[in-house]
Amino acid sequence: MIYFDNSATTQAAPEVVSTYDTVSQRIWGNPSSLHQFGEQAFNLLEQSRKQIADLLGASQSEILFTSGGTEGDNWVVKGTAIEKREFGNHLITTAVEHPAIHNSMEQLKQLGFEVTYLPVDEHGRISIEDLKQAIRPTTILVSVMAVNNEIGTIQPLKEVAEVLKDHPKIHFHIDAVQGIGKGIQDLIMNDRVDFVTFSGHKFHAPRGIGFIYARRGRKIAPLLTGGGQERNLRSGTENLPAIAAMAKALRLLLTDEQQKVALQAQIKERIFNHVKDFPLVTTFSEVNDGFAPHILCFAIQGVRGETIVHAFEEQGIYISTTSACSSKKHLASSTLTAMQVPEDVSTSAIRISLDDHNTLAEADQFNQVFDQLYDKFKVLSA
Ligand SMILES: Cc1ncc(COP(=O)(O)O)c(C=O)c1O
Repeated sequence: MIYFDNSATTQAAPEVVSTYDTVSQRIWGNPSSLHQFGEQAFNLLEQSRKQIADLLGASQSEILFTSGGTEGDNWVVKGTAIEKREFGNHLITTAVEHPAIHNSMEQLKQLGFEVTYLPVDEHGRISIEDLKQAIRPTTILVSVMAVNNEIGTIQPLKEVAEVLKDHPKIHFHIDAVQGIGKGIQDLIMNDRVDFVTFSGHKFHAPRGIGFIYARRGRKIAPLLTGGGQERNLRSGTENLPAIAAMAKALRLLLTDEQQKVALQAQIKERIFNHVKDFPLVTTFSEVNDGFAPHILCFAIQGVRGETIVHAFEEQGIYISTTSACSSKKHLASSTLTAMQVPEDVSTSAIRISLDDHNTLAEADQFNQVFDQLYDKFKVLSA
């Protein structure tokens, strides 16, 4: 079995599952309780928060736990809109964001907010000139993803940060769900960013857990109100086993990060170099510093993405059409659409997404299977 769908989700690591089990069984108190079980749970909660903060070069108070990437994205977008509505009603994002951002923006539009979607070039990348021109006196948020989940483009985050230094009141948010552990932490945790979204299940933590980084002094309104957990910003009894497990998963992810990233880049390159010259293949991801090391997206002209995915699955290789969200709905990739790729090509696209458990031998096996399947694809395409 070869699992090349790590951008959809990753398998929880055994050490991480073990932490989850231990905490569930032994530290089952509610962190808000006054007695010793509560205190024990509270201490572990804060210890996990500190571990995560230290790994990211942040302060403990700047880490707020969520249920995952979707909640983090919704929270920053809508929480900014609620918090800053007296200062303005304009938000800026890109045309290639995950639906967690896009649909939050669309919901705000229905409430009277104005949204600018920055267009992208043929690599899925925004232009800094477009950003400069889009900023208005009423702009309250700029939200830009670190790594595109469908084709792996890295956005020019440092340049966005530079522009926003001249606009200190605008909240700058980065969706780093696909960017963490991929060798670009300096771009993500830059000196201007205010909010960053992270999701545990993309780095071997359990599903349903995540966190945001929120720069000290920057405010967003809570979306979940209630008992006042997370400093009154996100109510709900904390998911302590998953939080402790996520802290461990993040530590494992960032240990020897550069070596792991280099291996993923080699695997991606080996497959890229193999498939790119086949006449039916159109590649969208590239092998250079402008793209993440773990995502490779290409189309096989005339063959539907689902057909390609199932053909590989029959050979024990698990890949996806461009994103897990769009695949079951049979939607064309929103990123490729924004890149002006014609629909008959974008519906033939597939995504390979790697992580630190994949090997070069798997790349070789993929390439062999690709060669075998290509003859079938030629027939289908004709
Ligand atoms: C870029 C990006 N943002 C947000 C999300 C949503 O994260 P979650 O699955 O944790 O809700 C995803 C998930 O694929 C993603 O790729």
